[in-house]
Amino acid sequence: MPNYLFLSIRPEKKPGCDALIFHCHSSMDISTGNELEYEEQVCYWKSRVNIHIENVMEIDCVCDALVLPVTEGDAKLYDSLGPSVAKALRKASSKEFGGKRNEVLLIPAPEDIRPERILLAGLGEKRKVSAEVMRQAGGKAAAYLRDMGMKKIAVSTFVFPHLDLLPMDFVEGSVLGLYTYDRYKGERKKKKVSSIIILGRPTDEVEADLAWTKTMTSAVCFARDLVNTPSNDMTPSQLAKEALSLKRKNLSVKVLERKDALRTGMGAYLSVARGSGEPPKFIVLEYEGSSEAPVVLIGKAITFDSGGISLKPSEGLEKMKYDMAGGAAILGVMKAASESKLPLHLIGIVPAAENLPGGSASKPGDVVRTACGTSVEIINTDAEGRLVVADSICYARRFKPRAVIDIATLTGACSVALGNEAIAMMGNDRELLDAFRRAGESTYERVWEMPLYEEYGEYLKSDIADIRNVGGRSGSLVTAAFFLSQFAGEVPWVHLDIAGTAWVEKEKPHMPKGASGVGVRLLLTGLKELR
Ligand code: BES
Ligand code: ZN
Ligand code: ZN
Repeated sequence: MPNYLFLSIRPEKKPGCDALIFHCHSSMDISTGNELEYEEQVCYWKSRVNIHIENVMEIDCVCDALVLPVTEGDAKLYDSLGPSVAKALRKASSKEFGGKRNEVLLIPAPEDIRPERILLAGLGEKRKVSAEVMRQAGGKAAAYLRDMGMKKIAVSTFVFPHLDLLPMDFVEGSVLGLYTYDRYKGERKKKKVSSIIILGRPTDEVEADLAWTKTMTSAVCFARDLVNTPSNDMTPSQLAKEALSLKRKNLSVKVLERKDALRTGMGAYLSVARGSGEPPKFIVLEYEGSSEAPVVLIGKAITFDSGGISLKPSEGLEKMKYDMAGGAAILGVMKAASESKLPLHLIGIVPAAENLPGGSASKPGDVVRTACGTSVEIINTDAEGRLVVADSICYARRFKPRAVIDIATLTGACSVALGNEAIAMMGNDRELLDAFRRAGESTYERVWEMPLYEEYGEYLKSDIADIRNVGGRSGSLVTAAFFLSQFAGEVPWVHLDIAGTAWVEKEKPHMPKGASGVGVRLLLTGLKELR
């Protein structure tokens, strides 16, 4: 029985996290003197904001700030809150506040009402207000109030029926806008919003809406955490631990090691991990919310993509930690599906590996074999995403799925074509494609379909193998997807390229800089439609 000496144990409660984390520094096995493996209890983002519905009048709500969403020039809508509020709003809206989109104004509340302050939150022109405008307004209002030191905030829902919109979009935006990633900061944000009160009648429908919003936003924040964590801490092994932490009665998680993947014949996937000292982890999750054939969800999880021997230029290379954003989205989706007990059978596959140019790295010209038996000539080791996703699709087929959906930061060409505004989508099944297009519109994680003409097959012809992994510069967004289509075969399949949307450079009120968590809301919304 070895003796363990923990030289220092520092229990710490991370902000935004409900779990206690035990950092066991320099733990040592006394009998051998060896350093023990660094143990860290897995922690994921969990909203510490308490969000609930209260059936009280605006003027009777005890809070630091009452948020009144206002369309341009329409503050008079709130005249019904009484003469003192009407007077205060008239005064504010004459000069300082017009109600433009994302404009905010915090004013002291009149003495005769219970909220301490009123925040006017601009929605812009009434005819242009949409769910996305609401999310942004929610993000702006919540983050602004947090920065002003407000803890307890209440939101009036009075305006929503007038706009034919739901208050939950505002709440969704608030939670997404309050997200911060300060794990490595010495000084962490002390200001925190502790509760958001939604004013209104708590009907079953509204309660269900709120529960769904909480589940979904917490999954987005979880995915953001995984992606924001630098690759020295978010290795394939750590990602596997994070996945294992999601294990529940209704969610099973297993991790295939290198030797297991070898036995399964996943030569393309394994070739990507060869140049790194970090062992690959092929993560498989199953949530059986129905007895039907499963929908398999695959998320590319390259925890760092250096390009391998086909090394990428160093400019911006630090961002290549986000090459596992597809995998993070799938972990978020599986967590949310099991939490909310979606009536679907889902299998999540997260092929994790690091793409580095070590001495054993695969080289241009190498030929590898996928689990489907197809041989692939590696022309460029930087086109590694399609190798890991191809083997995942082969693996997915053993479940006889009703659909396969993959999500991946697959090509730089995706952002060249669509910038940061849309996900590129390709696939072989009209119904699936349409479901995700609609989900894209409603979540504003918009998707744009690209063609998969059979002629693209010519681009991928290899002289010595069944297929090559790149098709040249032209059409490289599409040829990457065409490569994958060869493994999907007849199985209904959709591919989502999130290279342009997974990382936020220019922040929005509900999208702070860094990982966007894209895909979580899109997939959950699309999947709900498939039921
Ligand atoms: N992970 C990259 C794609 C990427 C680029 C994601 C920029 C996010 C931002 C992928 O593995 C890759 O390197 N693709 C190559 C393919 C090429 C070699 C055919 C690319 O797009 O340049
Ligand atoms: Zn690459
Ligand atoms: Zn990559």
